[in-house]
Amino acid sequence: MKKLSARSPMALVLLLSLCSSSLALMASDERSGSSSGRPYHFGEERFRQWTTRSRQGRFRVLERFTHELLEDAVGNYRVAELEAAPRAFLQPSHYDADEVMFVREGEGVVALLSRGKRESFCVREGDVLVIPAGAVVYSANTHADKWFRVVMLLNPVSTAGRFEEFFPIGGENPESFFSVFSNEVLQAAFNTRREELEQVFEKQSKGEITTASEEQIRELSKSCSSGHRGGGGSSESGSSMWDIKPSSLTGKRPRHSNSHGRHHELTGEDCPQLRALDIEVGLANITRGSMMAPSYSTHANKLAIVVEGSGYFEMACPHLSSGSGRSSPSQRRGRGHGSRGREEEEEEEAGPPGRKEEQEQEGGQKSRGYKQVRSRIKEGSVIVIPAGHPTTLVAGEDENLAVLCFGVNARHDEKVFLAGSNGVLRQMDDAAKALAFGAQKEKVDRVIGAQSDAVFFRGPNSRRISSA
Ligand SMILES: *[C@@H]1O[C@H](CO)[C@@H](O)[C@H](O)[C@H]1NC(C)=O
Repeated sequence: MKKLSARSPMALVLLLSLCSSSLALMASDERSGSSSGRPYHFGEERFRQWTTRSRQGRFRVLERFTHELLEDAVGNYRVAELEAAPRAFLQPSHYDADEVMFVREGEGVVALLSRGKRESFCVREGDVLVIPAGAVVYSANTHADKWFRVVMLLNPVSTAGRFEEFFPIGGENPESFFSVFSNEVLQAAFNTRREELEQVFEKQSKGEITTASEEQIRELSKSCSSGHRGGGGSSESGSSMWDIKPSSLTGKRPRHSNSHGRHHELTGEDCPQLRALDIEVGLANITRGSMMAPSYSTHANKLAIVVEGSGYFEMACPHLSSGSGRSSPSQRRGRGHGSRGREEEEEEEAGPPGRKEEQEQEGGQKSRGYKQVRSRIKEGSVIVIPAGHPTTLVAGEDENLAVLCFGVNARHDEKVFLAGSNGVLRQMDDAAKALAFGAQKEKVDRVIGAQSDAVFFRGPNSRRISSA
């Protein structure tokens, strides 16, 4: 007792200092708000292991998009990542979610049991494959020493924002869903005695991912088809929703390309399954030291996943308005560019910005103001870019920044570029320019005409501004 009380003040002090330092950490994180990119940016640590990680591979899923600024736009979608070791075999299963997968590395075979038939597809780096909800799928890494890595977008069909995986075959790990049915039912359904059923169905307990022999891999990939190389199946006659094939995203001619980057895109026009799901897939490969033009999507909400390299993004967000909360990093540094005329000291705030904004709306005096959302991004980072929000991506100096983008609500989408030779402001007529800019026409034209590249530009750090 004596000892305890002698020690406890010390323990208390320790505990307190631990608490206050973590509080201080939280507070500074909170204050720097926009530099963490919240709530639009998700670091790699926000993925959760779905299967236990093993030597054979892992499957991890990003947390749900539950923030009020994200929920309506993308709350029903989930981002996941699969990594399978050489010759790994993934047990048959189905999801209660439609799935769009992109192969970021390696090669594999994906077998689909659906509509009364089996179809096997060979997929490789750069391919996109749509797997309809409920299809029983098994797959394998067909390479002898390279990992097979896949990024997926899941669109749950039964519970908003949640999906489950269902295994028909398994023992303890994975557990078969048949195990919950009563013996009478199973015996009658399979017309087989229970003991025999158990001997067949509950044999596999080595986990959801196992390793196949070279011979088995050859066997599995024997009859696989590789779909359209070079992507695009729209011109095919009879190509229907259920003619599932992989399409090559990176093999397709880029939509935009120059020395600063390339943009590939697969839309509903290329792939009927994507059209049915109202999803498009894009890949921006930004050359190191370069940037992508500030732009926004008219209808699509984007889920962007960094698959290569590092850099940063900046986005203008009207919901986290500067009147209601955090200052942008540039404001705090006192440079003020990009956010001129805003109040400088807005560090004090309480509660999430959304709530604050609501209060202000209730008070009927929401001030117009945009907040800078900015964060460093690297392989594994995910960003949500809602429709209409002007955004730019900047590649680091050392390597290319490649960002895979799933666009949802893609049907009528168009990308609007805000600078460069296809910049939207160049389309204004002269009278409107004079009225809107309040500067001399020549000057306006010089400024909005100065960037002669389109879509991909020289980046901020290697910028050479012509002062002609
Ligand atoms: C991006 O471009 C570089 C250079 O062309 C290439 O080596 C790399 O594989 C590309 N990345 C992706 C993900 O396509």
